[in-house]
Amino acid sequence: MSQQEHDPTQQLRTKWDQRYADEEKVARPAEVLLNNAHLLPEQGCALDLACGLGGNALFLADRGFMVEAWDLSAVAIQRLERSAGQRNLNNLHARVRDVESQPPHAEQFDVIVISYFLERALIPTLIQALRPGGLIFYQTFTRQAVSSEGPQNPAFRLADQELLQLFRDLKVRVYREEGRLGDLSLGSRDVAMLVAQK
Ligand SMILES: C[S@@+](CC[C@H](N)C(=O)[O-])C[C@H]1O[C@@H](n2cnc3c(N)ncnc32)[C@H](O)[C@@H]1O
Repeated sequence: MSQQEHDPTQQLRTKWDQRYADEEKVARPAEVLLNNAHLLPEQGCALDLACGLGGNALFLADRGFMVEAWDLSAVAIQRLERSAGQRNLNNLHARVRDVESQPPHAEQFDVIVISYFLERALIPTLIQALRPGGLIFYQTFTRQAVSSEGPQNPAFRLADQELLQLFRDLKVRVYREEGRLGDLSLGSRDVAMLVAQK
């Protein structure tokens, strides 16, 4: 096996490149952003972290934000660049970037959106990367789920109320996590969603 094949980051990149090359999936903004878009400032700099096909980035760029969209997968970034070009979104900059080794700088963004990416060790840096008054929109899978969608490894899913804990130093403006309460055929299941302000 070559050295490259041993490199865990390279393995992850290859896995995601293959998924995005095969996938018919269309880029969509996460529910947490779509349903709470009225909380966004009128303008500013925004980051879609681990953006994949960049549904959040496209949504924010459409609204006039200066958007950075970062992902490890070159295939995802190429697809996002194509989508942004088709919509003439010159305010969207998509970059191949490992967000663990190259996280954002302090006070770089007014808005950070993260959907379906959970790297707990990065969260203090993301909080630092928000400007005063800035907003974080977060949505990802929970362990208390209704369907079998999402990662099987519980380490990659949120524990009950964990987002509240992870962002306890911010002002939580919106939080939704339904767990397995009530009529399981209804509601926003399998995920937790948070909007918090610095
Ligand atoms: C489940 S996908 C979510 C993509 C997108 N946020 C969405 O909601 O559709 C997880 C993404 O994280 C990216 N990723 C994983 N590790 C990364 C890292 N260290 N740096 C940047 N992106 C990473 C993958 O390439 C993949 O696109």
